Amino acid sequence: KLEGRLIIVAYRLPFKIVQENDHIQLIQNSGGLVSAVLSLAQSQQNAHFQFADKIQWVGYTENTPEELEGQNIENENFRAHPVFIPSELNEHYYEGFCNDLLWPLCHYFPSLAKFEDKYFDSYQAANQLFFEKVRAILQPNDVIWVQDYQLMILPELLRQEFPDHKIGFFFHIPFPSFEIFRLLPTRWRIALINGMLGADVVGFHTNDYVEYFLKAVRMVVGHGNKLHYINLSSRIVKVDAFPISIDYQKFNQAFDDMEVVRYRSDARHSLTEKIIFSVDRLDYSKGLLYRLHGFQRFLENCPEWHGKVSFVMIVVPSRDQIEQYQQMKSDIDQTVGRINALFGKINWQPIIYQYRSLSFEELVGMYTASDVALITPIRDGMNLVCKEYVASRKDLRGVLILSEMAGAAAELGEALIINPTDSQDIAYAIKKGLEMPLDEQTKRMLAMQGRLKEYDVFAWTNDFFTQMIMIEQEQEKLR
Ligand code: UDP
Ligand code: G6P
Repeated sequence: KLEGRLIIVAYRLPFKIVQENDHIQLIQNSGGLVSAVLSLAQSQQNAHFQFADKIQWVGYTENTPEELEGQNIENENFRAHPVFIPSELNEHYYEGFCNDLLWPLCHYFPSLAKFEDKYFDSYQAANQLFFEKVRAILQPNDVIWVQDYQLMILPELLRQEFPDHKIGFFFHIPFPSFEIFRLLPTRWRIALINGMLGADVVGFHTNDYVEYFLKAVRMVVGHGNKLHYINLSSRIVKVDAFPISIDYQKFNQAFDDMEVVRYRSDARHSLTEKIIFSVDRLDYSKGLLYRLHGFQRFLENCPEWHGKVSFVMIVVPSRDQIEQYQQMKSDIDQTVGRINALFGKINWQPIIYQYRSLSFEELVGMYTASDVALITPIRDGMNLVCKEYVASRKDLRGVLILSEMAGAAAELGEALIINPTDSQDIAYAIKKGLEMPLDEQTKRMLAMQGRLKEYDVFAWTNDFFTQMIMIEQEQEKLR
């Protein structure tokens, strides 16, 4: 049984804290992790496990301790416990080890990875700061759920101090094959693997990531496993796949929301006959440039479609302090400009490109206004956008084009599956998607929706927490 509070520990708080005269405003942050935990918080009645109090969230904020002193930072979903990281430390930890090393390595861009001792030292120091914050707020029955690649060392720090607490760890990005993971210096590999093994349950999105992790455990620290149970002599750790998902009903029902209907009809009236849509954080792993090349190839192949289709590409600002991301932004700006200049006419702009975030209603408005969703990451741990698109289509229309490199491709086989580096493949899929008969769209949508309805975000957490309880029984047998 889980009786205490749920403490989520993630790099970032789920919202930005903006000081406005005499009160603070909380503005939701972007990304799959925040979306998933938010769904859980918003629909506690759908969750199979009830926790005491609202969800506690330990995470970093850019505000200074002075700014937030004495303030209760909470909304209807979360109570925030801010972690303050000095800016130089954060630069080496977050921009450095997390996003200049772990992120490119795990997304199979080893040439972008920078191996610097000061990055690793900062990673350890920052994980320690998160540990101190959890220690400061922890109560006896609390369940701690540590999230993602920024906090791989934290479970072990917690385990040393709190041997009997329930600790879970979830890795939201691809865990790479051992040939990539072994690029890390030995000392770092050992610290990361042992760090994760501090948890009772270690979760990934797909079976492939589980297998890669188990191999890394065997090669780096010499522990084998039996049916995904790793026996550490004093404890057992369960490693398993828990595909993250979405609140299916929330997206499906949003189809009829007044504001969503308004956004949908605005888009339908002001754009061309057919609409292609994509939305991603700005990230080289999302394959944005390859996507644009694929769209260009489509325009070259299919002059009959000129003037009849618009590609609405929304790019959500992300990690804009990091050089690779700034470079990426300027490459996208240039490529969009070039394609529009090459093919556009006075009365037709092929690509409508915006660099901003969307509200939930705008997002679903666009999902449901579009004929094709073009989701082409080069690597993606899961990708929730494609699941949201499918769930929103209560009208059973629309075509999903999806990269085989997204974790979600394993669950969404009825999408038009493409290889994102193959612009011809993307171009053919766009044409096929735009010309797909309605009955075929419906057949594919129904099959995908059936699967998403069954395994939604509540099933994700339910499975994870069920494993946390079962592992406790296994641990008992050892005592
Ligand atoms: N999203 C967002 N702000 C926006 C547009 C989208 O937060 O302006 C959400 C989107 O609905 C989805 C998440 O961001 O839930 C993106 O998750 P995904 O797994 O696709 O990619 P990630 O950003 O985590 O790499
Ligand atoms: C992905 C990661 C998250 C991260 C999010 C946004 O979803 O898995 O851990 O929070 O991107 O990235 P950011 O660097 O802005 O927190």
